[in-house]
Amino acid sequence: MPSSGSAFAREVLPVSPLPPPVTRIAVAYRAIEHAFDVPFGPALNPLKHLGALGFLLFWLLVVSGVVLYVLLDTSAEGAYRSIDELAQVPWMLGTALRGLHRYAADGFVIIMLAHLAREWVLGRYKGFRRVPWLTGVPLIALAFVCGIGGFWLNWDQLGQYSAVATAEWLDTLPLLASPLARNFLGDGNLNRLFTLFVFVHIGMPVLMLFGLWFHIQRISLAKVFPPRALALGTTATLLLLALVLPVRSQGPADLTRVPESLQLDWILLFIHPLTVSTSELAVWALLVATFAGLVALPLLPARRQPVAEVHPDHCSGCRRCFDDCPYSAITMVPHTNGRRGVQLAVVDADLCASCGICVGSCPSSTPFRRAEVLHTGIDMPQWPINDLRERLLQGLEAMPGPKRYVVFGCDQGAQARATAAPDVLHFSLVCAGMLPPSFIEYALRGGADGVLVSGCREGGCEFRLGQRWTQERLSGEREPHLRTTVPADRWHVAWADRGDEAALVSALDQLRARAGTPEPFLPLESTP
Ligand code: HEM
Ligand code: SF4
Ligand code: SF4
Repeated sequence: MPSSGSAFAREVLPVSPLPPPVTRIAVAYRAIEHAFDVPFGPALNPLKHLGALGFLLFWLLVVSGVVLYVLLDTSAEGAYRSIDELAQVPWMLGTALRGLHRYAADGFVIIMLAHLAREWVLGRYKGFRRVPWLTGVPLIALAFVCGIGGFWLNWDQLGQYSAVATAEWLDTLPLLASPLARNFLGDGNLNRLFTLFVFVHIGMPVLMLFGLWFHIQRISLAKVFPPRALALGTTATLLLLALVLPVRSQGPADLTRVPESLQLDWILLFIHPLTVSTSELAVWALLVATFAGLVALPLLPARRQPVAEVHPDHCSGCRRCFDDCPYSAITMVPHTNGRRGVQLAVVDADLCASCGICVGSCPSSTPFRRAEVLHTGIDMPQWPINDLRERLLQGLEAMPGPKRYVVFGCDQGAQARATAAPDVLHFSLVCAGMLPPSFIEYALRGGADGVLVSGCREGGCEFRLGQRWTQERLSGEREPHLRTTVPADRWHVAWADRGDEAALVSALDQLRARAGTPEPFLPLESTP
């Protein structure tokens, strides 16, 4: 049974937990994300929904691809004609369909690479994120194979160029007994190869679907659909592109001639000009090095993170931590107390993100419990909830007044220490979601005139759900909720990222102006 802080807390964080360092590249990236917050607003910022946008584009590709497949003549002779004829369909419906499919494919690759880059610059490939990272890597290869294979199905000159260039590139490795490129030279083999194209282009999305399923397996409530406005805006943009820049075939394939000038899709087909300007082997080396690097990245040693600890004597099996954990690190098992039907939370150390969101969700974390040492059902060893209660009471007592404000900040967002002032007692939690809402009332009853809660901007929570759960708990939509008897003018929230410290200070000033009423809130002794 832990006392006020476990061995980890005493050994690693003897005085006060310090927020984790942030790399320069992450700061630079956040500046870009913040620039996007201006026109889109934090909730609709596409950079915060890249995974969900990837899913949207995937489904747009599937739906438009199924319709195209119905219209496609799957023989080498008929394919060009059947796709080219789409341009004649009235109301530009065929043009819209073809363009939507092509631009969704380009968009998918751009979004996927942007998503990868975002996770990389934010350092999200280590520890508990190893699995989503490693399951993401094969998706890159599948996306390109599927995208490039799509051009072959048109069987126009661009498709021919890409198919032959790919075959020649594959032939530089002694993988096949007879060179693939030679197969294109004999017309007799063309239909057989065309069946292979169809198989590649249709088989890959099926594999991708499996891959995507694995990818989000360990992510609780993964965002697989963007907000409606963003989804509609993205689809409308693709349709507009399809009509303004129609995708047209580039003359029927003719294997007796080498195409002279082609309009290339640089996003999906960049590998061909890259091969021409370097060499086949150089491109192979580049690919192997890139994929090896991507696979090695999460295997590098990572800093040991403390794991949430369950205290069975204080766990009633209510499942709130299970519901709120953003990485499905908690499972419920029969309780060790032997009471029939009662469950106990168990944490999987490999999955735990050390975010503390479970502590904020546990009903036993309420500071109003009269026990001298506050033991809760689930606690963070580096920042036990009892330490927070003790430091809060001692800090409030030590403040001279006449006014006292408490700031519950978050290590990941704007730094709470930026609010340092004689009338401010500030704390930085691992995540805003770690704060049991009852601490706000407790601080007010303990002598605070106002309480400011802060965390990352909407959609930017380092632990995905901390900001959302905090917002919902404070507004009473989620348990544990803040009691409605707590006067609204005595507390305030500020969603502010690292670098937004000025916004945090200004939120505190607003609170000072609002909470400056003379009557003190009911003292702790009168708590019902
Ligand atoms: C093929 C397209 C991809 C799609 C559609 C996709 C989709 C998603 C989705 C929906 C999430 C959950 C987001 C959330 O709810 O917070 C996610 C998370 C993640 N993805 Fe991807 N992903 C793709 C490719 C990749 C690639 C290529 C990588 C890196 C190699 C990657 C790395 C990650 C990581 C590390 C997370 C966890 C983020 C976190 O813990 O906050 N993904 N992805
Ligand atoms: S600390 Fe976070 S990831 Fe770990 S069990 Fe608690 S809620 Fe889940
Ligand atoms: S929230 Fe607390 S009481 Fe409920 S299951 Fe989790 S640890 Fe147990």
